[in-house]
Amino acid sequence: MSSVAPVSVDRRVDRGLAEPLARDIRKTGIDPNYWYPLARARDVRRSGTLGVSFAGEPIVLARTEKGQVFALEDRCAHRQVPLSLGEVKGDRLLCSYHCWAYNATGACVNVPYLDKDKSLPNGVRSYPCVEAYGLVFVFPGDVDSPNVDDFPQIATQGNPAYKTRYLDRKIKCHYSFMHENLMDMNHQFLHRSLMGSINPKALAIREGDGWVEVDYTFHRAAGKQPIGEKFMLGKRKKAPNAKANAREDMDIMTIRTGYPYQTLQFWTAGSDEPALDLWNAYVPTDGEQRENQTYGLMMVRKPGIPGAINLLWPFIILFTNGIFGQDKDIVEAEQRAFDAQGEDWNNEVFPIIQKLRHLLVNQGVEINYD
Ligand code: FES
Ligand SMILES: [Fe+2]
Repeated sequence: MSSVAPVSVDRRVDRGLAEPLARDIRKTGIDPNYWYPLARARDVRRSGTLGVSFAGEPIVLARTEKGQVFALEDRCAHRQVPLSLGEVKGDRLLCSYHCWAYNATGACVNVPYLDKDKSLPNGVRSYPCVEAYGLVFVFPGDVDSPNVDDFPQIATQGNPAYKTRYLDRKIKCHYSFMHENLMDMNHQFLHRSLMGSINPKALAIREGDGWVEVDYTFHRAAGKQPIGEKFMLGKRKKAPNAKANAREDMDIMTIRTGYPYQTLQFWTAGSDEPALDLWNAYVPTDGEQRENQTYGLMMVRKPGIPGAINLLWPFIILFTNGIFGQDKDIVEAEQRAFDAQGEDWNNEVFPIIQKLRHLLVNQGVEINYD
């Protein structure tokens, strides 16, 4: 009987495969000095409230009777109960307990039982808040940061040539796993039951201040193109002139992390406009940032026949739900492995993901574990 001697593994040496990171990526907080979507706009009802959170900070979104949305700390200045339990009257948010009233700036503007000659108590923190692209965005960081003026641009959303699918789901993992999962197309094996056998090829890597991106092309090694994918991306063509192997003869996918957002665009060979344009934000909800609310806008270019997109849509939904479900399961498994280990043991060998990991760490902030 032969036996195999156990290999002793020094994790610190293994991690030497890549340049060491400045800190543990899974213990890196996301920089709050950006605009983050915290809700779907439709979930903040007129004269209603919605309790949300950003990296453990409770935030209430409220919509006035006239339809304006504002964001306040979700903690009454009186006895710290959530203001999201309260109600909106006109343009004021009334705490459910003793009816202290707050306006959109967070100022306490009325305490019903306070003598008129007494001054009103301090209010609560308010956050810059903008409704756009069917989402409610909040700027949870420092209002004096220049990034307040840098609102995310999602050009394709609202373009009538595209139909938008909204993705909004809680995923129990650190946001960095999400970036790595989407950018690393070498995980097509995970999706083999839905997509067959696809071989990705990284064509080019680019990077700059606060961003990294990669171009891929693909070829099918076995199996047929799934129908949902065909409806979404069009039928994959063989390169018309395979010998030339020019970029315009290939299907190209570009995935970019432009901190803190991530985009994916897919062009079929020879097309000027992407068949698919995806914009994602992964917003940590808890203080340790081990969970995130993923907001995605998936813009799919409509086929030439009017209304056809609506017939294809259920197939596209089914297909993308299948893929996202597999991704969700695997990144949550990665988070559980990290929790069991207590530190990141990743042995990254793929250059773009190494760059991405440095980007996420270097742009991030300390997590306060108090
Ligand atoms: S706790 Fe909010 S008014 Fe008293
Ligand atoms: Fe995936």
